[in-house]
Amino acid sequence: MEKEVIGSAHRFGILGGGQLGRMLIQEAISYDIHVHTMDGNATDPSAQIATSHTVGNIQSYDDVLQFGEDKDVISVEIENVNIDALKVLESQGKKVFPQPRVLEIIKDKGLQKQFYAANNIPSSAFGLTTESTAADFYASKIPFVHKLRTGGYDGRGVELVRTEADLAKVFKAPSILEELVPFVKELSVIVARNEAGETAVYQTVECEFNEANLVAFLFSPADILPEIEKNATELAIRVITAFDMVGILAVELFLLSDGTLLVNEVAPRPHNSGHHTIECNVTSQFEQHMRAVLNLPLGSTEMIRSGAMINLLGEPGHSGDAIFEGLKDVMYLPGVHIHLYGKRETKPNRKMGHITVAHKNLEDAKHIAKQVKDRIRVVA
Ligand SMILES: Nc1ncnc2c1ncn2[C@@H]1O[C@H](COP(=O)(O)OP(=O)(O)O)[C@@H](O)[C@H]1O
Ligand SMILES: [Mg+2]
Repeated sequence: MEKEVIGSAHRFGILGGGQLGRMLIQEAISYDIHVHTMDGNATDPSAQIATSHTVGNIQSYDDVLQFGEDKDVISVEIENVNIDALKVLESQGKKVFPQPRVLEIIKDKGLQKQFYAANNIPSSAFGLTTESTAADFYASKIPFVHKLRTGGYDGRGVELVRTEADLAKVFKAPSILEELVPFVKELSVIVARNEAGETAVYQTVECEFNEANLVAFLFSPADILPEIEKNATELAIRVITAFDMVGILAVELFLLSDGTLLVNEVAPRPHNSGHHTIECNVTSQFEQHMRAVLNLPLGSTEMIRSGAMINLLGEPGHSGDAIFEGLKDVMYLPGVHIHLYGKRETKPNRKMGHITVAHKNLEDAKHIAKQVKDRIRVVA
């Protein structure tokens, strides 16, 4: 018989100790589900609230294997983990969700793009490059986007090459070269799937990025035609089904002026573009991920309020002990929900927290979000 997931007898492990794990634990506590995390530091965001936090290297075969040995279910809050160890744990009969074979494809942007091509999932044209790709090949491809195949995150590992001068930015490591997509909007759809193959999809959201390619604002719901919404939902279900994946999948989309949707990339875990679901939807993405990987019934994704989300990023030029300037000022604004990730040290563009403005009316939420953005700064 399957072990009851509630209470200390069941051991749910998560690789990664960042804010995504921390917010999942906040939800798990309500169910008395015990979560154990592993990451590099004793001060990681999840460490203070996890049932236990192991200091270890999530990319190390030995550390991951050892961490998984006494767990019943293992999940991740970051893709860049040791897959070989997860495969061994899976072969020992442990539940590993998302499945290691899915993580293996997604953590390598080259394999990910090949997967879309092989499964007829619309995505931009691309090619693979290496450290020895010739300079004149790159010159002939301008404009293009260059992305490291592995290890990039939060806009690092992505370069938009628009001019000859930008050519100096190309990566001298295995990468993909994509055509520059002239999108009109960047959308994101979060879809969940459990072991029974049931799916649940959240309303499409719209993302606005800053110069560092980080999400500056997110708006839910996206301002798109009902037909685009329908297509985005269907596409997200197609993608998670093609991966035959269990857990939460965030599907980042480009919307073109003619209504075409292209898959940019996916993340097999809770995602920055789903933070508003904590206050704006019946079931948050974190609770949903937990439900999916623990083989529990999926929750309702229904939207109860519109939302605008702002990432609290470390101010460029500031490094050291974080000070959240303007925090009290924004607490006066209606619908403001503050989330600080418990990171002591700020660095330029580091994700230190987020704020969701939840409101009946999206235009009001947007208006308040702009005020929040103007008043708050993370400095040292
Ligand atoms: N092919 C492309 N054409 C135009 N813009 C792109 C393209 N690929 C990525 N971008 C821009 O760069 C951002 C980051 O790229 P992405 O592949 O999503 O990497 P990350 O892992 O940093 O999220 C995207 O959100 C988008 O704004
Ligand atoms: Mg992205």
